[in-house]
Amino acid sequence: MNRPIPWKTAWITGASTGIGRDIARQLAAQGVKVAASARSAEKLAELGSDILAVPLDVTDSAACKAAVELIEAVIGPIDLAVFGAGTYSPVAVDDLQPDVFAGMMGTNYMGVVNCLSALAPRMLARKSGQISWIASVAGYVGLPKAAAYGPTKAALINLGESLYPEMKAGGVRLSVINPGFVETPLTAQNDFPMPFLMKPEEAARRSIEGLAAGRFEIAYPRRFVAILKAARALPYPLFFRLIARTVLKSG
Ligand SMILES: NC(=O)c1ccc[n+]([C@@H]2O[C@H](COP(=O)([O-])OP(=O)(O)OC[C@H]3O[C@@H](n4cnc5c(N)ncnc54)[C@H](OP(=O)(O)O)[C@@H]3O)[C@@H](O)[C@H]2O)c1
Repeated sequence: MNRPIPWKTAWITGASTGIGRDIARQLAAQGVKVAASARSAEKLAELGSDILAVPLDVTDSAACKAAVELIEAVIGPIDLAVFGAGTYSPVAVDDLQPDVFAGMMGTNYMGVVNCLSALAPRMLARKSGQISWIASVAGYVGLPKAAAYGPTKAALINLGESLYPEMKAGGVRLSVINPGFVETPLTAQNDFPMPFLMKPEEAARRSIEGLAAGRFEIAYPRRFVAILKAARALPYPLFFRLIARTVLKSG
């Protein structure tokens, strides 16, 4: 709790609403110079004049590069990045549309890759910095309705595991944030009960605390994380029986 904040500057994507917005606000309130990105310039402006608004579509890799150049020119070298831009829509098993799958992979996964590839070479050259992204507990196991979303988050967890050792050797710390259900515009469309639902302020607080501690995985709430990790370890017949009895029954 209340660890000292180790960063002077931070860049947050997905900062116009939800978890990213609260991370941006909480860091700025603790004296960090924050740059905030999302597509909506109007919503970013509502963050106030303390936060540098850098409107950006993360699916545009050239724009991500330009954003990093601009941010570092204005607030200085980025110490912490949190890539939170993401999107979700449920998938019905009788309506599998490739463009929905590609769109979600484009924003959630390639959006992180675009921002990462723009920033990582600079941090590696400085041998310092911390980069994180928001994956999800939905990346641990395949869940009903999450056929397009879950794989993007599984890919983000795997991306972090792949890069962590060499990034660390190069002086750059990587963290992957795996939230459970958080009350944001993204989950407002869910028509099923969301266990252990958390407020975005609390999700932001736990994310910042985990980042300040330098943990690779920052996952919350703990009980939901433990249940899903245990489910992941089950033999498939048991796993699918559990899903049929819990998630499908309640949906
Ligand atoms: N809420 C949950 O239960 C939950 C759980 C686990 C993980 N997550 C993850 O947490 C992250 C934040 O989600 P949230 O719940 O806070 O949702 P949210 O309130 O809908 O926020 C999503 C953010 O991403 C931005 N965004 C979307 N597409 C973008 C694009 N192409 N380029 C730039 N920015 C883009 C949105 O702003 P614009 O529309 O203005 O671009 C918004 O700022 C997401 O990666 C989500 O998958 C959420």
